[in-house]
Amino acid sequence: MRFDIITVLPGLLESPFGHSILQRAQKKGLVEIVVHNLRDYAENKQKSVDDYPYGGGGGMVMSIQPFASCIEKLKAERDYDEVIFMTPDGITLNQSAANELSIRKNIIILCGHYKGIDQRIRDIYVTREISIGDYVLSGGELPAAILVDAVVRLIPGVLSDETSALSDSFQGDLLDAPIYTRPANWNGHMVPEVLLSGNQSVIENWRYEEALQRTRDRRPDLLDN
Ligand code: ADE
Repeated sequence: MRFDIITVLPGLLESPFGHSILQRAQKKGLVEIVVHNLRDYAENKQKSVDDYPYGGGGGMVMSIQPFASCIEKLKAERDYDEVIFMTPDGITLNQSAANELSIRKNIIILCGHYKGIDQRIRDIYVTREISIGDYVLSGGELPAAILVDAVVRLIPGVLSDETSALSDSFQGDLLDAPIYTRPANWNGHMVPEVLLSGNQSVIENWRYEEALQRTRDRRPDLLDN
């Protein structure tokens, strides 16, 4: 799988993919993540990537030309399944969208800035608009990193059996049960007795009940399905 991320702030994306699971997935050749500096594609002398909005109003708007040139260049090199625009007015990212994207081959991600991007980029190129939640960030880079992380860990071979994505919160419509490690007694704060019992079926049952209770308390909407 390959991600091409187009941004005016490539420096913001230097680190998020260089650690732990994402780094290993790239080293194993399971995913390739390429970051493109939008400014490199600006054809004007000043290398500017934005302009004033038609009809007035505050803030700058990202222009069509640099995005179009970069997207067209990439599309001439390989086929893309999706061109995703990260935006607070997109559809909120959830586990089922991440699952769906994890079986795609090549994905372009556009990061917006300033007041937004010229609507025609969205009309011509974008296949999907994704938000990471109902709050506004300064740009689409951190949302893009979150999307890539959520998708890459679902690619077969990225996680080992022990850390399998199948046991994640949300994967089974329930939040995770509480977990503990040694010591069993921390200044009188004890690990629940049942986890020390060694009785696996009783432990599984306890975990299920705890997960159900946590989901009822925190995210009853997940149980509506
Ligand atoms: N860009 C700015 N805020 C965003 C959000 N909440 N989700 C996706 N992209 C964004």
